[in-house]
Amino acid sequence: MRLIVEQAERLRGTLRVPSDKSISHRATLLGALATGTTRIRNFLWSTDCLATVRCLKGLGIAIEQDETGDLIVHGRGLRGLQAPEATLDCGGSGTTMRLLAGILVGQPFASTLTGNNALQRRPMERIVEPLRQMGAIIHGREEDRFPPLQIQGGDLHGIEYHLPVASAQVKSAILLAALYAAGPTVVHEPAPTRDHTERMLAAMGVDIAVDGTRITLRREAPARPPLPPLDATVPGDLSSAAFFIIGACLLPGSELRVHDVGVNPTRMGLLDVLCKMGAPITLENERIVSGEPVVDIVVRSSPLHAVEVGGEIVPRMIDEFPILAVAATQAEGTTIVRDAAELRVKESDRIAAIVTELGCLGARIEEQPDGFVITGPTSLRGASVEAHGDHRLAMSLAVAGLLATGRTSIEGAECIPDSFPGFEEKLALITERRG
Ligand code: S3P
Repeated sequence: MRLIVEQAERLRGTLRVPSDKSISHRATLLGALATGTTRIRNFLWSTDCLATVRCLKGLGIAIEQDETGDLIVHGRGLRGLQAPEATLDCGGSGTTMRLLAGILVGQPFASTLTGNNALQRRPMERIVEPLRQMGAIIHGREEDRFPPLQIQGGDLHGIEYHLPVASAQVKSAILLAALYAAGPTVVHEPAPTRDHTERMLAAMGVDIAVDGTRITLRREAPARPPLPPLDATVPGDLSSAAFFIIGACLLPGSELRVHDVGVNPTRMGLLDVLCKMGAPITLENERIVSGEPVVDIVVRSSPLHAVEVGGEIVPRMIDEFPILAVAATQAEGTTIVRDAAELRVKESDRIAAIVTELGCLGARIEEQPDGFVITGPTSLRGASVEAHGDHRLAMSLAVAGLLATGRTSIEGAECIPDSFPGFEEKLALITERRG
């Protein structure tokens, strides 16, 4: 599918963006392990989250949408999953595969997790290694590097583990396995990553303590109380709001209000960076919803200046680098992104893909092993670009297309609903055309 974007005058309006992907996955998975009926309001009906639903159904969990639109998960308890009759297909969702693997290693049955071609190229040894240390029998393709993952569940024990990469998916896989392990599990992160799993487990009464980048989960056998069901309301996804926030910063005369956006501090890196770049962003109506901080974000256009991004902030904005790159093409000076080599193992090699595609639109951008360097401001010109099967790249290119002269054609845009169903329609609602 091809998405055509014409140069725009500005963005104006009030909107809500689709719900948080990470929270939707976790609430569904933990709802399945709870004893009783979990209700998830504002579940994200994206391809990725539906992969989690599909896999859980394959494990015997009844899940449905009720008449109000909420997702209802009929949890069967920690020991209630059933042996799947077929391979579990995670589609393109790394979160589904990595988090589910953490659960499946604790089950008394064998299972296989697979995914589409893109997911089959994503690294899995990062979960195989710690889960094996916990006693799991788990194998991947090519010396455990890639899916499919073959799992023979069994008895697990707690470990103390230092994550070699800052990854919330790996951390969460270990914490979910720890629910089934004898003895405590301690995870050390090299830098803070999104902590939705920890928040949700704590809300379910699990003994989990966070001390800086050290997370301890204690679930001593035999005192393993069942997990109570959740009644969760999922906030809007800051990673989805980011496209419109940056579009509004860059198009003169823009003003947007985005309602109901989750602003968990472990996800706030982009807002911190945009403030440093001079963007006038205000957070209003701060509140806590289902254990997560939520705000309305108001943003207006303003000239931006270049920024250097590296170190601990990188995991706090790991999904926002494609759209930050678009902002950097319009900022005065040279923006440098470093310490972000993880971008090479996302839905695409995001460093190579950003450099190639923004280069096609006329950006002055240079590839680095662990990031990129962009000099701005540049006038972008419309061209035909490619999404590389990567939803966040496709939407970032769409925002670049709003700025570029003429018309930008984004090939491979069918991946956008992986995280943002209805993106094109939402964008059309807030876009004011020239002339
Ligand atoms: C996610 C964690 C991040 C992020 C992904 C969602 C999660 O991945 O890029 O989009 O929900 O835990 P890594 O854990 O691989 O950094």
